[in-house]
Amino acid sequence: MAANLNASRVPILNLGPITRGVCVTMCGIIGCVSRREPVVELLLRGLKRLEYRGYDSAGIAVEYPSGIRITREVGKIRRLEDAVGASPQDGTTGVGHTRWATHGKPSEANAHPHVSADGRVVVAHNGIIENYRDLRRGLESRGIVFCSETDSEVIPNLIASHDRGDFPAAVRAALAELHGSFAIAVMHHDHPGVVIGARKDSPLIVGIASDRMLLASDAAAMLEATREMVFLEDGDMAVLTAESASFSRFDGTKVLRPSVTISWDLARAEKSGFEHYMLKEIHEQPQVVSDALLGAIGSGHEVNLEQIGLSDEVLRSLDRMCIVACGTSWHAGLVTKFWLERFARISSEVDYASEFRYRDPVMDSRTGLIAISQSGETADTLAALRRAKTDFNARTLGICNVQGATIARECDGLIMTHAGPEIGVASTKAFTGQLVAGFLLSLKLAAARGTLSPHEVRRLTDQLRRVPQWIARALESADAVRDVAASVADARGFLFLGRGANYPVALEGALKLKEISYMHAEGYPAGEMKHGPIALIDEGLPVVVIATRGPVYDKVASNVEEVRARGGRVIAIVNPGDDRVSKQASAIITVPETDPLLSPMINVVPLQLLAYEVARIRGCDVDQPRNLAKSVTVE
Ligand code: G6P
Repeated sequence: MAANLNASRVPILNLGPITRGVCVTMCGIIGCVSRREPVVELLLRGLKRLEYRGYDSAGIAVEYPSGIRITREVGKIRRLEDAVGASPQDGTTGVGHTRWATHGKPSEANAHPHVSADGRVVVAHNGIIENYRDLRRGLESRGIVFCSETDSEVIPNLIASHDRGDFPAAVRAALAELHGSFAIAVMHHDHPGVVIGARKDSPLIVGIASDRMLLASDAAAMLEATREMVFLEDGDMAVLTAESASFSRFDGTKVLRPSVTISWDLARAEKSGFEHYMLKEIHEQPQVVSDALLGAIGSGHEVNLEQIGLSDEVLRSLDRMCIVACGTSWHAGLVTKFWLERFARISSEVDYASEFRYRDPVMDSRTGLIAISQSGETADTLAALRRAKTDFNARTLGICNVQGATIARECDGLIMTHAGPEIGVASTKAFTGQLVAGFLLSLKLAAARGTLSPHEVRRLTDQLRRVPQWIARALESADAVRDVAASVADARGFLFLGRGANYPVALEGALKLKEISYMHAEGYPAGEMKHGPIALIDEGLPVVVIATRGPVYDKVASNVEEVRARGGRVIAIVNPGDDRVSKQASAIITVPETDPLLSPMINVVPLQLLAYEVARIRGCDVDQPRNLAKSVTVE
């Protein structure tokens, strides 16, 4: 049920003392102050573009002459739209929020925006307030009654407790007491036409338009209004009116923040006619690779990485690379390790960021730390990066897809993946972008270290330029993949096998399937199958094998025979004209033959399509799979 709350009174259900743990939020926020245009529709559309950040409940707060009206709803934004439908739509200042909770059930009372007990201050928050228990206890001892289980509700109450008539000063005083990560958007009943934003360890961007000012967790939410954006730094606060945006540090020191023009257009951030964002993003991959290569390879075949930030001398001085990442980005890291060792002859390891941050790694200023992250905001990857910098003085390099993201800003050097906004929760085109970045980096390092002959560099860069056309041809396998999907959509589970640089691709194929079809799938190095998974082989467990030509083809072919000998059903990814593996397989999917070193970029495509088709047949929510979030900004 929706709740229309007039902030001059707060009729929210009081859930009593916190007994169910912290409501950790990982959410999307948006705010807008406009001169004349009503903001309700814009907030709702913006929230839809932020839905990938969380979608278990949502709300908006809009200012009217009678007070601030808050509407909140459990579920997706379309339910909030229905709830808002009957309300007046003419308010010109408002904030909105879409929530993803890891603890504590999604409920109307826990949905944002939250309002202070005196009804004057309204806050939408993304992040977690670590010291909220202490703050809440202090506020309760002064008679403040809380209405939700969230950590976030302390923020409006803290601001209200510091309110002496100066809105920015009250927000600043509250910020000084908050520990944890947050991006907030604040409105005040007594200060109409003002929205204040602040960030620490959670993204927040200000959008500047001629007739309004906006803020949001992600640029895509504001693109319909403006492309001119200011990326706030940690510790920044922004005060927005319809005509102005002023920036200061939490301590009140004024700062100037340059605006940047975002090149993504709105059409690119929308589905472009595909049934799902994921499918659209799979099909965008040839373009992603072309974009990533623009300007990256010079006329002499040299690799230009504009923002690499590390001189050739520093690159030469490195004696080891350590890659940290999570999820799909971790798989891109595993492929990159293969290239770094092969091209640059540098010892490389790949760590889960969540493991690295609590291990006792051995590294120093001669270690190159590569943080791979689509969002650039993943909490574990960011923490691993900070640890490598602070504790070990490592040289750091980010591979990110989001301009201005925290990881992008905190690394010594950066390689942007240029994949554009990725909305589907399951990552596809960002993975390909990361692979291109990893390949270019490996070539760049090889050039600095003199480990590849000019002839080999020329050959590899020529091959790389052909990847967009190879991916486009791999996409032509869509019909064959659909048939295969129909034959396996009710299997009890899947095994994905690959070797060499295609072992991480097997892991990625299994992850994609798991994420969006909720079927169990495991990725394995094909040679390791006999040490365990072979016991699982029977008719009911399709085995997807990457068996394209290359130095390990014969080995993989033997593994396929082992599966067949035990009655297993093999689905093989092969090159045209393959006769050995194809004869053993129940089904084949053909992809163009490429240099084996580049084959991960092509071979992953049918696996993405397979996951997509299986999920679609099973009626799953492809773009917003249950329990997952796109950007995991809390630990
Ligand atoms: C979440 C997403 C994955 C993603 C991972 C790392 O788990 O659902 O798709 O690979 O986070 O995210 P990052 O933004 O750091 O690449």
